[in-house]
Amino acid sequence: MDKKPLRSREWFGGQDRDGFIHRSWMRNQGFPGDVFDGRPVIGICNTWSELTPCNAHFRELAERVKFGVWEAGGFPLEFPVMSLGETLMRPTTMMFRNLASMDVEETIRANPLDAVVLLCGCDKTTPSLIMGAASCDVPTIVVSGGSMLNGRYKGQPIGSGTIVWQLSEAVKAGTVSRQEFMDAESCMSRSAGHCMTMGTASTMACMVESLGLSLPGNAAIPAVDSRRKVLAHESGRRIVSMVHEDLRISKILKREAFLNAVRANAAIGGSTNAVIHLIAFAGRLGVALTLDDWDKYGRDVRTILDMQPSGRFLMEDFYYAGGLPAVLGSLAAHGQLDDDALTVNGRTMGENVKDAPVWNTEVIRDYQNPIVASGGLAVLRGNLCPNGAVLKPSAATPALMKHRGRAVVFEDIEQYKARIDDPNLDIDENSVMVLKNCGPKGYPGMPEVGNMGLPPKLLARGITDMVRISDARMSGTAYGTVVLHVSPEAATGGPLALVREGDWIELDVEARRLHLDVDDAELVKRRAEWVAPEPAFKSGYQSLYVKHVLQADEGADFDFLLGCRGHAVPRDLH
Ligand code: FES
Repeated sequence: MDKKPLRSREWFGGQDRDGFIHRSWMRNQGFPGDVFDGRPVIGICNTWSELTPCNAHFRELAERVKFGVWEAGGFPLEFPVMSLGETLMRPTTMMFRNLASMDVEETIRANPLDAVVLLCGCDKTTPSLIMGAASCDVPTIVVSGGSMLNGRYKGQPIGSGTIVWQLSEAVKAGTVSRQEFMDAESCMSRSAGHCMTMGTASTMACMVESLGLSLPGNAAIPAVDSRRKVLAHESGRRIVSMVHEDLRISKILKREAFLNAVRANAAIGGSTNAVIHLIAFAGRLGVALTLDDWDKYGRDVRTILDMQPSGRFLMEDFYYAGGLPAVLGSLAAHGQLDDDALTVNGRTMGENVKDAPVWNTEVIRDYQNPIVASGGLAVLRGNLCPNGAVLKPSAATPALMKHRGRAVVFEDIEQYKARIDDPNLDIDENSVMVLKNCGPKGYPGMPEVGNMGLPPKLLARGITDMVRISDARMSGTAYGTVVLHVSPEAATGGPLALVREGDWIELDVEARRLHLDVDDAELVKRRAEWVAPEPAFKSGYQSLYVKHVLQADEGADFDFLLGCRGHAVPRDLH
């Protein structure tokens, strides 16, 4: 078979001055001369950082990938890219997802790389790397970092993130002491790895596997399990073959792969953040994927994974129960998976997951005995969100899924913080909490504040959920009857900007409807009176972000990053 010329040969193949330069400086690292003999050069894109604790074990993982690349006859070269640590970065990592994707894209294109292995873990490190690689369209395989071991406190399993929400509300309600709260801190994070609930990191690892971008089993192996190292090693071997097969990322990320991921998200009760990220992936490759696809293809899928925050178990339990192949196998057996979608191991999704065993039917339920019968994310429409909004039914309170209540309005997150603890706040459990100006442009990066905490005076009465509406996102580890990603956002003059205290709002999840019960003439009057908020940033990256970021229903990518630019170096001087 004729082999396609490798792009790395344009750097390392010449006998001229440029070839001399490209090889000679690389030799200072002690590489023998035959590594430049035409073997595939594999980039290992590493998001290791001590500021990203979820990815702090990635240097060892990269070494394991290198073992595999060397073994298969490739030449591995590890490189760092901007790492996005969810817990420390301010104002929010989402503001840097697109920036990190540019780092990845330009680093791949500018260097003699024939393919990449992406080391992904903490929430935004997965989408940013995939978006960057997609825009270059080189062979790509993802190795996720794996989740932390299950947390345990007072003998009970506790899940990262989810327990923080639960305990902090309990402290406010007076049912948990400050000392107990502090004690739980070290019990939650027992080992290397990312959050072990079905938060955004675990969801994105599941999305990667259901898209066919990783070897089977990648999503759920715990970070410190020796089998995670084996998977990294095998991924290193496999990426070399993918170069020879010219199996580029665009051949994997077809529409059928995205629809498989949409269904998988419904089956696992995955994070609402996946909607934004997958629409952004599709945008980089020109694949049609809309918000409505999430509703249409997820709606009939049953949630069969009993995981926090929607359910009981944690990622370690998920792995022992069979991991994602077991879930995908169940979907395939019930006609909810496109078997023919190609995956990075060269086999189809159907071949990969056929007869995958389930070892624990409490964790991965039988399809006839689901947690939620209609597990997909609900995409709402109405005069309050003409371009859509998202709600996660599996994390919501069934009794609130059809609700009419009076709005308590917070113009921004600062006003929410200033008012929420006020005992005189005019609010009860039937109120609808509305938070504005937290969308992609309004609070650049669209922070995870949509699940705003309830007023202490209601928590003290045992109220645990209320309808909340915003243009913000919500942490994948959070829960509640929370309407998110309202689009267009308030800061651009979307209808959310026009809501006033005391307005009646109707939510009907079954009918996919979100309605502001204010007549049109009044809304026209309010629109005329509306004044756009002052931009928070007038210079720097933040101003670029605000100027170019798209709305949530469009993936919140930058408008100038849409589309696949390929791996050819523009205006190459050599
Ligand atoms: Fe990194 Fe949750 S904070 S995955």
